[in-house]
Amino acid sequence: MKFGYFDPKNKEYVITNPKTPTSWVNYLGTADYCLIISNNASGYSFYKSPKLGRVTRFRFNSIPMDRPGRYVYIKDEKTKDFWSISWQPVAKSLESFKSICRHGLGYSIFESSYDSITSSLKIFVPIDKPIEIWEVRVKNESNEVKELSLFTYTEFCLWNSMLDMMDFQYILYTCRMGYNHEDEIIDYSIKLWSPYEPKAFFTCTNKKIESFDTDRDVFIGAYNDESRPEAIVQGKCFGSIAIGGNPCAATQVKFSLLPGQEEYIVFILGIGDAYKEGKEYKKLFADKENIQKEFEKVQNYWAERLSKLSCSTPNENMNLMINIWNQYQCHTTFNWSRSASFIEAGGRDGLGFRDSCQDILGVVHSIPQEVRKRLIELLKAQLSEGYAMHHFQPLTWTQGEHNIPPRDRIYSDDHLWLLISVPHYIKETGDFSILDEVVEYADEGSATVFEHLKAALEFSWNHRGKHGLLLGLAADWNDCINLRNGGESTWSTQLYFKALTEFIELCEYLGKTEDAEKYKQYRDEIRKALEEYTWDGEWFVRGYLASGKKLGSKESEQTKIFLNSQSWSVFSGAFVDEKGKTAMDSVKKYLATEHGCVKNWPAYVDYIIEVGAVTSFPPGLKENAAIFCHANTWVIIAEAILGRGEYAFEYYMSFLPANKNDIAEIYTAEPYVYSQFITGKEHPYYFGRARNPWLTGTATWAFTAATQYILGVRPHYKGLIIDPCIPSGWDGFEFERVFRGRKLSIKVSNPDHISKGVKKISVNGKEIVGNLIPVEMLDEENVVEVVMGK
Ligand code: GLC
Repeated sequence: MKFGYFDPKNKEYVITNPKTPTSWVNYLGTADYCLIISNNASGYSFYKSPKLGRVTRFRFNSIPMDRPGRYVYIKDEKTKDFWSISWQPVAKSLESFKSICRHGLGYSIFESSYDSITSSLKIFVPIDKPIEIWEVRVKNESNEVKELSLFTYTEFCLWNSMLDMMDFQYILYTCRMGYNHEDEIIDYSIKLWSPYEPKAFFTCTNKKIESFDTDRDVFIGAYNDESRPEAIVQGKCFGSIAIGGNPCAATQVKFSLLPGQEEYIVFILGIGDAYKEGKEYKKLFADKENIQKEFEKVQNYWAERLSKLSCSTPNENMNLMINIWNQYQCHTTFNWSRSASFIEAGGRDGLGFRDSCQDILGVVHSIPQEVRKRLIELLKAQLSEGYAMHHFQPLTWTQGEHNIPPRDRIYSDDHLWLLISVPHYIKETGDFSILDEVVEYADEGSATVFEHLKAALEFSWNHRGKHGLLLGLAADWNDCINLRNGGESTWSTQLYFKALTEFIELCEYLGKTEDAEKYKQYRDEIRKALEEYTWDGEWFVRGYLASGKKLGSKESEQTKIFLNSQSWSVFSGAFVDEKGKTAMDSVKKYLATEHGCVKNWPAYVDYIIEVGAVTSFPPGLKENAAIFCHANTWVIIAEAILGRGEYAFEYYMSFLPANKNDIAEIYTAEPYVYSQFITGKEHPYYFGRARNPWLTGTATWAFTAATQYILGVRPHYKGLIIDPCIPSGWDGFEFERVFRGRKLSIKVSNPDHISKGVKKISVNGKEIVGNLIPVEMLDEENVVEVVMGK
């Protein structure tokens, strides 16, 4: 069953049935002001920090679901009937109420048609202004004059999102609402202990405000809800001023419409003082042209970001995802890490170290300067011993102040991701200068980035266990495998192998032979330990428990095989051989399903303290035997490295959100972005149901897997590698990319219908040797012809 469709021309997802199984959301805003909005106009906004700068409220995981939001109600003054432009909250019967929501890049539009009135509400956030703009259009499609009232409503949050949800005896007595009567602007201010006083405003820029409310409980009325606010029932707001209590911004605007006539009304909500910024913005956005200009800037912003890479393959859903939605999601994860969504309520602000390290892979081709800044921020969260803060807040950063983890909260993998992200950044940009930049450590001292990378490698070298594998510490990539007290992680060891390989490659490129030799010795030792202690006959074990028992082995009780230690055996480069192949065959045999590969099998049923939190979830959910999408991306990469194009593509297709559009009643989450997980086959009821959309490392890695391993266009220090691994049925594909400021149009043909292998590459008519296009060869614009073959 479908709830909507993709509109590639307008780069929109269009929801035609508003009764989606979950809230299908969009992210508006980019820099300081962000608004998360659902297909029924619910959601919240925040300024700078979703934890400490929450502007409007959302009641997470509540009943009725999906409330509150930004609502525009229309009331017919003659019939007294009223509805909302978004289907919710009034929720007229869908037989008489037509509703559409268009989620676009940086904007959402709600359209409705009811009782001969058509209306729309378009919401967006200008690129460089901390405000949101609501453009409303109402048209009379009947033959008679309509007398209408428009009511707007949004509920403010009391800035500190956690207190706002918890400590009512205190927080409810901090707000001081007011009304700038001269300019007709609602004034929102609260006093908290923070060094500045948060202020916001709400107003209509081009019509007289007939009445207003700033006290939620007055506007809504006792025992009512947003579907039936008292003020709308009565036909007039009460002029309430909340000094303490629950603040809101509600306004009423009145007009009449002749048959065929349309009215255009603009509301703005923003950060600042109602007597200053509010006044200025009101004036600025009384002019429609200024609004249009801001909207164009939003469109250009996204067009520019998405213009650096695109593909045209025989698979339309792949094209849709890569060219539009996957990239859009990558930027969203880069911007907001894991802090603000309908799932992440915002209590955990700032950046996850490993998450942000990975998030850069999906955007570095598009915004390299911003990535460089982010990398430096991440390096500042590394400690001089080499490990990293698991989670930190650069917005309020002061050296050493935040979250220096106690020893038992050190993660086995966080710091090692730097060895993926920094080389990745340099390969993309050619900016080796970053290696010489001196960056302070979070605790004490400073060092060049090159030394930071070494410190990370040394920390892991010094934290190996009995079998010479890396200690699992608080957790590895899998937050819920907690091998404390000496347990060892195969996966972290594989990541370490990859990190060492990256560093060796970098040292060799830079001519630092001594370093290269030293870390080759480390790598040989690591390889030996992996060979000796992790092969289980048909697959690789996931590690060793503190008790010495194997984790994820034929011998194990409960889960016998894990996904990551198979995919990473190949992806790390440690086992691109028969063992790696056998391990990946076991993935196919034991873990693959039509919705993707489950993360472990069989699922844990009973809690095992020395394995960790993974054993606490019911089978098929989250880290316990769900199809964890992030981990599925590495399966694609491993198969591509092995040259098995059919498998790589089949896996890619199995969890591609766009492929779930027609079974949205089963999948339930947004079909335009990746979710963290899809419920696994061992769940008794919900196999195939997706949860935790948007903020997931799946975005960055699915993009990397598809573009760099299936389509095979991969940056290298020296240039661009062309190494596709595609379904043999394909005749070829096209790929456009900007690489270090040069444009490449790559046309790949596959006359022999193979999966992998490049026979011939010509750049601007000149044939090259091998499959690496040297960067020196590139002009401003380049035509690259690639012929696959043996
Ligand atoms: C979540 C976390 C990520 C972790 C993964 C697996 O996606 O954000 O950091 O690696 O779960 O546990």
